[in-house]
Amino acid sequence: MTRLPPLGEIPADLVAACDYERYALPRLDGNALAYLQGGAGDELTCQANLQAWREWALLPRMLRDLRGGHTRCQLLGEALQHPILLAPIAYQQLFHSDGERASALAAGVMGGAAVLSSYASTRLEEVAEAAQGPLWFQLYWQGNGAATLALAQRAEAAGYRALVLTVDAPVSGVRNREQRAGFRLPAEIRAVNLDQAVQLPPLPEGGSALFDGLMAVAPRWQDVAWLCRHSRLPVLLKGILHAEDARLAVEAGAAGVIVSNHGGRVLDSQWPALRSLPAIRAELGRELAVLVDGGIRRGSDVFKALALGADAVLIGRPYIHALASAGALGVAHLLRLLREELEATMALCGCRDLASIGPEALQRA
Ligand code: FNR
Repeated sequence: MTRLPPLGEIPADLVAACDYERYALPRLDGNALAYLQGGAGDELTCQANLQAWREWALLPRMLRDLRGGHTRCQLLGEALQHPILLAPIAYQQLFHSDGERASALAAGVMGGAAVLSSYASTRLEEVAEAAQGPLWFQLYWQGNGAATLALAQRAEAAGYRALVLTVDAPVSGVRNREQRAGFRLPAEIRAVNLDQAVQLPPLPEGGSALFDGLMAVAPRWQDVAWLCRHSRLPVLLKGILHAEDARLAVEAGAAGVIVSNHGGRVLDSQWPALRSLPAIRAELGRELAVLVDGGIRRGSDVFKALALGADAVLIGRPYIHALASAGALGVAHLLRLLREELEATMALCGCRDLASIGPEALQRA
């Protein structure tokens, strides 16, 4: 099938955030699609994430005075126009030649923030130059503290304002679709910000490649505490699902957590991230940052996340669909659509600002 070029302008029938998928698919090659759509194993976790938002229904309220309403918020000291961040997604030049620069530009222009992946295909300094708003840097533990901190400090020097340490993927739980589809990273696309792959120790006789290899270089709670002590930037832990892990994160010095199951890419049969949100918010209280991602596809999902305790949300696949469809223009337009959908949901549910969105606006569907 011939691949279509990116759109030069936004078509008139592209009116809802979820419309972008339809435009993206014919613009991606089989390899990029295999990487993007891949979920763990039979994709049970991906489906559970999507389903979890449908388990809640909105309960509208009428005739309140909503004049002067807005979606502005403060997050880790940043003043944002809306609470929708771009999640870290690796290798974005697979999806559009402008890759990470386009996403960062669009996030800033729309008054929001983006998180750059450790596995970005563009140098983090170049992304910072293109950005017009706050950027956070997503870290994977680099096998030891010194290498991890060096990468964090490079991001700080380039102007990144927070670190997101992803802790849910030290190993992939099952073969996923990208492997089944024979995904190969093209020669010209690579993780340009990482100097070298983490070195694994030699395996003892009869040792397990997982427990004696990968787990020997995987981070533990004391490493998180070390990083938080040595980093001048606030650290969020991404991939937390258990309230006790949220408490341990904060005890280790994290500024908050991102409740996430990595968009269902790591382990099959996982509990959807949304279901962990209320308990984690209850554990951490109102002061610490709690964000959520996984399966958010419309503005009403953002509203539900805030009603159940999130300060903000991250989106993954939806903005990659927009990037593949129309580059920075597409991502900016997607963010506008999501914000408008959130505003409409707020207005119909009688909420003038994000602080007034609470659990009373939802019912179990
Ligand atoms: C991801 N995600 C991810 N997370 C992370 O911490 N570092 C990374 O490099 C990546 N890379 C990545 C690539 C692709 C193709 C996808 C789809 C996802 C996970 C991502 O940040 C986020 O948690 C999920 O994408 C959220 O779920 P939705 O919005 O895609 O359903």
